Amino acid sequence: MSGASLKFGSILSFCVVLYAIFYRKDDLGDMRLSPVKEHLLHLESENKVASGIRQPKVALGYGACHDLFVNATSLLDPEDLKGIPKHFNELTNKEEFIKSFTYFFKHGAAAERFMSNSKLFDQLVEDALKLPDTRWAIGGNAPLMAKRFFLEGWRVLLGAKMSDKLKSYIPNEISIVGGDDVDKDDVHMILEYKTDEQFGAYRSPRANRYIMHNDVNNPLLSSLEKLGESLPKFSPNLLVISGLQMMDNFPFTKDGRDLRAERLNLVREQILSQPLTTLAHFEMASYVDIELLLHLTTKVLPYVDSVGMNEQELSNLNSVLEHGEVIFVADSNPRVATALDQMRNTFNMIRKKNKDFGSKRKLTRIHVHTLAYQAILTVKDSAWRRTKAAAAKASLTAHRYVCDSQNIALGKSKLLLDDSFSTTTDNDNNSRVFFEPTKPVSCWDEVLDGDEVEICVAPVLICTEAQLTAGAGDNISAAGLVLQVEK
Ligand SMILES: *[C@@H]1O[C@H](CO)[C@@H](O)[C@H](O)[C@H]1NC(C)=O
Ligand SMILES: *[C@@H]1O[C@H](CO)[C@@H](O)[C@H](O)[C@H]1NC(C)=O
Ligand SMILES: *[C@@H]1O[C@H](CO)[C@@H](O)[C@H](O)[C@H]1NC(C)=O
Repeated sequence: MSGASLKFGSILSFCVVLYAIFYRKDDLGDMRLSPVKEHLLHLESENKVASGIRQPKVALGYGACHDLFVNATSLLDPEDLKGIPKHFNELTNKEEFIKSFTYFFKHGAAAERFMSNSKLFDQLVEDALKLPDTRWAIGGNAPLMAKRFFLEGWRVLLGAKMSDKLKSYIPNEISIVGGDDVDKDDVHMILEYKTDEQFGAYRSPRANRYIMHNDVNNPLLSSLEKLGESLPKFSPNLLVISGLQMMDNFPFTKDGRDLRAERLNLVREQILSQPLTTLAHFEMASYVDIELLLHLTTKVLPYVDSVGMNEQELSNLNSVLEHGEVIFVADSNPRVATALDQMRNTFNMIRKKNKDFGSKRKLTRIHVHTLAYQAILTVKDSAWRRTKAAAAKASLTAHRYVCDSQNIALGKSKLLLDDSFSTTTDNDNNSRVFFEPTKPVSCWDEVLDGDEVEICVAPVLICTEAQLTAGAGDNISAAGLVLQVEK
């Protein structure tokens, strides 16, 4: 071997060693964390909303509830699991509940289910209140997103019917319309679990939550009319439609009338009543009732500018649009390429609905949040601004929310995203994006449905000491929207 090549060889191995030291992922931590954090924070601060100039306005519907956070494995007894974990659309007894919970627990997948047995539901709430760590909070997509917008300096109008007690959780500056003649707020039981928790023979692959409810107010969207009365005067820049999942598996036909379809027609009318300069966003959720999902594809989705959702909801929506079938559980940590393919497909199919229904609005934005990354697709030259910064902000919000701290602590962070990812599963080799810690948010352009779109993917500094999981999606979706609406 000649001297020169020997020398070259050692320089090369020296560089490899340096690289390994610089970006090593061992017990001392992933060296990518610090530059990723710094650059995400920079992107966020660079795009802060200038305060005091003109406050943007958001109106949000529908509903609110009282969330009861419970340690799932402390409340439930694995001995009560008779048979194998199984999914049910609706829960009527304890056996179904335990089977259903375990089914999602072992997949680490988020779920929301209706428990039709009020007596059992009340009993479970009572049992939960005996546990030391059980706590109450305000819940519902609309109030949680409302609070996030308020914290970001927006003027907020919230459509929700709730008791005075529940209203006390909401800052006074947020206008609430929808009435307060409520005897009992709807309670949502949020059964939380961490990564690697054990429940009988099963182990959770990731931290998540299983939500169970027995709602009476929310399924009727009882605040819809009152919100509608306030909209003309308020004149929002953004209208957020959420909480429709409370209509899932609710017995809705009465004297031959389909009440649910009637209520959803009114949701459509409410969106259509707004000028096109008011952007409409639909927040997806965990739906299982195919009839309801099909209503969404004809009464809501054709008329909105934007849709936000997590990876489970994306797979489900994609399947409903493509095959008319519900997916009950999907990969809780999908590859970027898989999620992006589903986003493109969903985009194209909703665009087709825009045409089929002669809608004046066209879908121009999709935000998907997953444990490992945030992906936002926007149409260029649409009303949406700052997609890259929005992805960064959504990513930081995910960490802050789950760790329940404003500070991004590197000691409590990890990155699941690899050093490169494919942008599609169709052609793994030609579409790699290299993930650089100093430029953590990758953005590129594509053409979809004849429009040029920008897609941005931001890695999440995953909080390894999960404090909170329920409501994360609301904070994240709202945080993503905050920077995207022109002020
Ligand atoms: C639930 O309680 C168990 C036992 O105390 C604990 O190990 C686990 O971390 C708790 N889970 C959550 C989500 O707090
Ligand atoms: C999430 O939003 C709620 C308002 O709903 C707010 O109180 C909380 O501080 C937010 N959490 C983070 C970490 O941003
Ligand atoms: C990617 O490259 C590998 C190795 O060169 C090859 O085996 C594989 O078939 C390629 N895949 C695609 C989708 O082109």
